[in-house]
Amino acid sequence: MRRRSGSWPPKVRRSWRWTSTSTPRRPSPTSSATASWPVRVDVRSEDQWADLVSEVEARFGSVDVLVNNAGIADPALLEDWKGARLQRTIDVNLVGVLNGIQAVTPAMRRAGGGSIVNIGSVGAFNGVPRMSGYVATKWAVRGLTKSAALELGAHGIRVNAVHPGQTRTPMTEGVVFDTSAVALGRVGEPEDIAHAVLFLASDHSRFITGSDLVVDGGQLAGQADYSGLPQ
Ligand SMILES: NC(=O)c1ccc[n+]([C@@H]2O[C@H](COP(=O)([O-])OP(=O)(O)OC[C@H]3O[C@@H](n4cnc5c(N)ncnc54)[C@H](O)[C@@H]3O)[C@@H](O)[C@H]2O)c1
Repeated sequence: MRRRSGSWPPKVRRSWRWTSTSTPRRPSPTSSATASWPVRVDVRSEDQWADLVSEVEARFGSVDVLVNNAGIADPALLEDWKGARLQRTIDVNLVGVLNGIQAVTPAMRRAGGGSIVNIGSVGAFNGVPRMSGYVATKWAVRGLTKSAALELGAHGIRVNAVHPGQTRTPMTEGVVFDTSAVALGRVGEPEDIAHAVLFLASDHSRFITGSDLVVDGGQLAGQADYSGLPQ
């Protein structure tokens, strides 16, 4: 949740490690140390978000970046998108994103600004059979991103969305990818998405807010079927 500003690519600063037997050495809020540590948060829980934000402020002094990445995909026919399946998808993919934005906003205001990146999907621009509930939440994340950007811009907080196309992750394990409509002719890798997120998290995108950055190899650009063209 730390924004790295300044040089490109962002500098990797001195890291610190957990000690094996006792409490971790904590960098003071003013030190230049950067760290990551494992933490389990259910994005549906406002209380867990609040604890996480407090912990980050205590460790690092401020909260500068939030990437709302958590999401679930639970394919089902239209008539089965109801009850617990629908509610769980809404709770994680939409309420989780809203919870995250609400949780970090006061901390980012204290820090004088920040960058929030919500992970949407190419499904936020069209329909996908058997993914009705999922697609609905991703369209909602687009709207939420723009509304939050309008409201938080005055506080120096930027809110943008990255929309991955089909990407090789555990979520798509077992999926038979069809890249015939992808201009670049391949499936995305997590790094393809991460580079776009890093751009929006950094000050290199300092005049960009409320935007949709599609990272899909050209899938949404149109039909990439070259078969009818002269060779
Ligand atoms: N993989 C794709 O092709 C693709 C395409 C478009 C959009 N996306 C989006 O990218 C994001 C990342 O997905 P991914 O492909 O890496 O899938 P993934 O399943 O590998 O990652 C999703 C992560 O969300 C976490 N998560 C689920 N419910 C949670 C909860 N209640 N609280 C906290 N964490 C929770 C999971 O533990 C998992 O680590 C998702 O928002 C997904 O909708 C993925």
